Amino acid sequence: MKESYDRLLSGNKEWAVEKLKQDPNYFKDLSLGQNPEYLWIGCSDSRVPANEITGTKSGEIFVHRNIANVVVHTDMNLLSVLYYAVEVLHVKHVIVCGHYGCGGVIAAMGNTDNGFVNNWLRNIKEVYEKYSTELNAITDLKQRENRLVELNVIEQVHNLAKTKIVQQAWKRRELQVHGWVYGFNDGLIKDLHVMMDELSDLEPIFRYDL
Ligand code: CO
Repeated sequence: MKESYDRLLSGNKEWAVEKLKQDPNYFKDLSLGQNPEYLWIGCSDSRVPANEITGTKSGEIFVHRNIANVVVHTDMNLLSVLYYAVEVLHVKHVIVCGHYGCGGVIAAMGNTDNGFVNNWLRNIKEVYEKYSTELNAITDLKQRENRLVELNVIEQVHNLAKTKIVQQAWKRRELQVHGWVYGFNDGLIKDLHVMMDELSDLEPIFRYDL
């Protein structure tokens, strides 16, 4: 019986043949190493593939994804990716990209018990609490969700700025941190213009003497 995962393997074969047809050196070149300019921190949602929605190729974006694109300062996985991207790959831009209609953000706004995921969504509930005055003033639920998606991205950009990894990179050379939101309605990415660099405001308590 043909299993559903077989189509991934046959799809891969067709893709590899197609790539070699376009460029006989495609895989040879990739095997030489990577030199991406961007680190992408996005949602695990299957509808938000970093390369596809940005029209970029293999090798152009270093990627980390988790539920609702959260930057948690005790997350070894994220910190390792961030450290490697900044210190070894010397990426120039770190992009936090959320998306409207994010299931993680919507779940965090409600009171449903989501089992183990409660612990992760807790981070977003804290974003809600921080901006509760603004959010509670939005009567339309969809608009409130959309705003929390944006505020969540903004908070995660700040969380990146609070890490020694990012602050040290700021000291040495140019590194910019950006906040974006992608929408399924038109397929477009909105820049929230919360770009942070070494000159940006950061609560003094979070700034290290480096
Ligand atoms: Co999502």
